[in-house]
Amino acid sequence: MQKMKRAVPATLLRGDGIGPEIVEASLDVLDALGARFEWDEQDAGVGAFQRTGDPLPHATLESIRKRRLALKGPLATPVGEGFRSVNVRLREEFKLYANLRPAYTYVHGGRFENVDIILVRENTEGYYVGFEHYIPIGDDPRAVAEGTGFNTREGCRRIAEWTFEYAVRQGRKKVTVVHKANILKVLTGLFLDTAMEVAKKYQGRIEVEDKIVDNCAMQLVLNPGQFDVILTTNMFGDILSDEIAGLIGGLGMAPGGNIGKDCAIFEAVHGSAPDIAGQGVANPSAVLLAAAMMLDHVGEQPRATLLRDAIERVVSDDGVRTRDLGGTAGTREYTDAIVRRLRAA
Ligand code: NAI
Repeated sequence: MQKMKRAVPATLLRGDGIGPEIVEASLDVLDALGARFEWDEQDAGVGAFQRTGDPLPHATLESIRKRRLALKGPLATPVGEGFRSVNVRLREEFKLYANLRPAYTYVHGGRFENVDIILVRENTEGYYVGFEHYIPIGDDPRAVAEGTGFNTREGCRRIAEWTFEYAVRQGRKKVTVVHKANILKVLTGLFLDTAMEVAKKYQGRIEVEDKIVDNCAMQLVLNPGQFDVILTTNMFGDILSDEIAGLIGGLGMAPGGNIGKDCAIFEAVHGSAPDIAGQGVANPSAVLLAAAMMLDHVGEQPRATLLRDAIERVVSDDGVRTRDLGGTAGTREYTDAIVRRLRAA
């Protein structure tokens, strides 16, 4: 396969847990695709914290700021106490307000065929802004836990406009706005109202509907075929994107893009999977599909399509599957099968 003429500068973060194994796989696959990135490898996550005392070193931020493009492995976040999520900090730092999470049936013969859903999650507001504290009562310093979220009209408009524009560009037909405006009338009411306002500009081009999040969660399992593009808030998007990953074989198949006005970071939806780290059994597909999204982003759609096709053929025609997909292949064997498909393409 002919190589890309120009190497695109990008930051590479291998991440924690299974990160280094699956990122290595994606470098091999990109190489087989003739995709050229001028990688600037940087450190982040728990590993970086242990090595340097900082889970998001300054040099890493500067590298991404300069290149405005990154591929990252999962980064672990301590639960409850400890440092704030590096993923959340990256999204805030580079104003990566759109989190694009597609779910597509690559693994045929599973529970659902023909799933093809694009979920867009608002990535910077809502309950994930981190305004949390304990209120002490008597001698209990943690008697009450309080958390506050916010949505801004500007933030809601920005993500809605991004989503409808994306839907038009991709030839999509319908956007479902998912909210909980019956209970969180203000917080998610503003999100719903603003999205519906934006939708008016697309009348006749994109159909719009709204669904309450609990109903949406059920409908997704009953009949995923009714969904096309889902637009939702930060926390609902976090939860529903794992759910749609479950429709297509699990987290091992779910990529994500964090996209802002002038910076984009691509990653797997899943985390660092500490339970299987270092065993060579992780499914690298999610980060491979994230690399495909990155190829789309830099205008290399034909290579992205080749990669997606190769994944579909390997899991569905060749029957080479990692353990999470019910197979026996390790990360290396699976990656080699994809590389073979690409070399034959
Ligand atoms: P997880 O996504 O790491 O793992 C959940 C389950 O899915 C585990 O059983 C794991 O073995 C399995 N799994 C995940 N990816 C897989 C793959 N590629 N192949 C095969 N099996 C896979 O979620 P968990 O355990 O809740 O989080 C672990 C750490 O990851 C936490 O510190 C969390 O904060 C972090 N995390 C980071 C994310 C990111 O960097 N974007 C996203 C989600 C979690």
